[in-house]
Amino acid sequence: MSSIFRLDASIRQDGSVTRAVADTLEAAIVEDLDRVEVVRRDVGATPLDGTVWGTAAFAGWTPEDDRSEAQRAALAVSAELADELVAADVLIFAVPLYNFGVSQHFKTWWDVVGTDPRFAPGSTTLAGKPAFLVTARGGGYGPGTPREGWDHATGWMRRVLEDVWGLDLDVIETELTLADVTPAMAELRDLARAQLAESHDAARNSARSVTLRLRRAA
Ligand SMILES: Cc1cc2nc3c(=O)[nH]c(=O)nc-3n(C[C@H](O)[C@H](O)[C@H](O)COP(=O)(O)O)c2cc1C
Repeated sequence: MSSIFRLDASIRQDGSVTRAVADTLEAAIVEDLDRVEVVRRDVGATPLDGTVWGTAAFAGWTPEDDRSEAQRAALAVSAELADELVAADVLIFAVPLYNFGVSQHFKTWWDVVGTDPRFAPGSTTLAGKPAFLVTARGGGYGPGTPREGWDHATGWMRRVLEDVWGLDLDVIETELTLADVTPAMAELRDLARAQLAESHDAARNSARSVTLRLRRAA
């Protein structure tokens, strides 16, 4: 049996582009494999308590016998999050751009995972594991656009998933998702629709390559 871990960080359920593209990706993987378990963590709908990270970080520097109840509880949370990643064969992260930066809920989740000893600096716990980052942005940030360089989320997410954790990362990006509801973006609506369709196609194609890889490894 194969397993997928999927994280969603969109703060909305209805109309979410990252959830829709991740649904396409997840469904295509599930359809292509015989038996698949999907473990989901929705930090957009149920964010982690923001105080867990600080408590867990200092708990790691406290001798085990001296840890407070709160420190033990915080480390139990980070162990549970880390277990979900370690157990999965494929990881899917569906995370939008918010306020030109990374979703605070995704950042908190990543920070808390980092307090588990399996994710200490230099660890290779997830090295080479296939993973997908599905992201969406309301505007456009391509070369030559007025907001080029203003997306401070995608680069950071690539850095921590690819370079810090060593995941074999495939990134599926959709831009202009606010075109339909923003009058000033009316002329970009066709382009937005085309980009969204491309992202769903990319999700289906990427699913095929990852299921081939899983079958070969089985
Ligand atoms: C609170 C909030 C802040 C946002 N900030 C930005 C932003 O800085 N730049 C941008 O291009 N889009 C921004 N957006 C638009 C989202 O990136 C876009 O709607 C994206 O599709 C959200 O992901 P979802 O469709 O999965 O919910 C923001 C949306 C919300 C709700």
